[in-house]
Amino acid sequence: MRRLDALARGTSALTHPSIITPQMRIAISTGGGDAPGLNAVIRAAALSAINRGWDVLGIKRGFAGLMGEDEVIPLTKNEVRGIGHLGGTILRSTNRGHPFHYPRKQPDGSYIEEDRSDELIENARKLGIDALISIGGDGSLDIARRLCAKGMKVVCVPKTIDNDVSGTVTTFGFDTAVNTALEAIDRLHTTAESHDRVMVMEVMGRDAGFIALHSGLAGSADVILIPEIPYDIGKVCEKIRYRDSVGRMFSIVVVAEGAFPRGGHSHTLGESLPGQARRIGGVADAIAREIQMITGKETRSLVLGHLQRGGVPTGYDRLLATRFGGAAVRAIADEKWGQMVALQSPNIVTLPIEEVLGETKRVNPTHDVVMTARATGISFGD
Ligand code: F6P
Repeated sequence: MRRLDALARGTSALTHPSIITPQMRIAISTGGGDAPGLNAVIRAAALSAINRGWDVLGIKRGFAGLMGEDEVIPLTKNEVRGIGHLGGTILRSTNRGHPFHYPRKQPDGSYIEEDRSDELIENARKLGIDALISIGGDGSLDIARRLCAKGMKVVCVPKTIDNDVSGTVTTFGFDTAVNTALEAIDRLHTTAESHDRVMVMEVMGRDAGFIALHSGLAGSADVILIPEIPYDIGKVCEKIRYRDSVGRMFSIVVVAEGAFPRGGHSHTLGESLPGQARRIGGVADAIAREIQMITGKETRSLVLGHLQRGGVPTGYDRLLATRFGGAAVRAIADEKWGQMVALQSPNIVTLPIEEVLGETKRVNPTHDVVMTARATGISFGD
């Protein structure tokens, strides 16, 4: 196991310079799909902890670093210097590393799932890790809940561009994703208008329509399709035809990847890798073909994809991520094991992970954002 031995507790070179034996050694891990702002959380948490005289370790690639499949590294002030504005995560991430369902390749090429949680906990113990900050979405929250049940001391920071974690007003990464989608909509407007075309743009979000709804309303889309409001393609075409009839010869349709027609289901993209969740996508292309067939209008589709996850986090996301990182360290100091930090404006609070996982967060079709979108003439295809 790379670097684990060197990090065994008491190795003076790796402890905080101002103290001989740290009062506390914490570790940070980032799991699931990355989101702009992860590095700002890592930086804020590491600095807050180091300034308390604690030792901080970074677990590489989700929990792989604690299972001998990647590294565990010391996070010193130097390591986290100048990273707050960077996208991605210096600790890397994976969406295939659930320690309770870890994929193992068999000699015949097939995969089985193994529970490797005891190994993870034992390696954390050997490293003298007193507490863990797990930064992730639903999957990471579930892992944290189960590790807590086995006695590990874990505090969570919610992360996802999809904004589908309940208990928090928003998650960092969402604002950046919305702004990226918004810029794309602005660009599509000019080309769509020049060619009298319909442009269908697919955005991320899994089973939640927040990115589509927020970017679509802010970007003055004509149609927004979200999983929470199943659509009728006839109604979508009605809106496009109506626009034509009043001389607006182009239309912009923003569709969440998880959207589906009434009585239908969302699109899946090929096969998932072992240990990976179902990959959602492909709806924009299907809708574009239907619109062209029904209306006779030239229609193009575009999948914005991982552009929404990359790049520099917005100021809002950097600030939220930094507040979450600081709050996670305070939660450890207050021994709030099994809790997640959350934004309940204007405050950052902590909530039991169980409570968060017990509730699904989706767009409420009667929310003011949806009502305002309808009032301004946007169609939801219903
Ligand atoms: O959950 C974040 C997210 O970006 C979803 O919006 C999207 O469906 C999924 O991850 C894509 O995952 P991957 O990076 O594995 O393609």
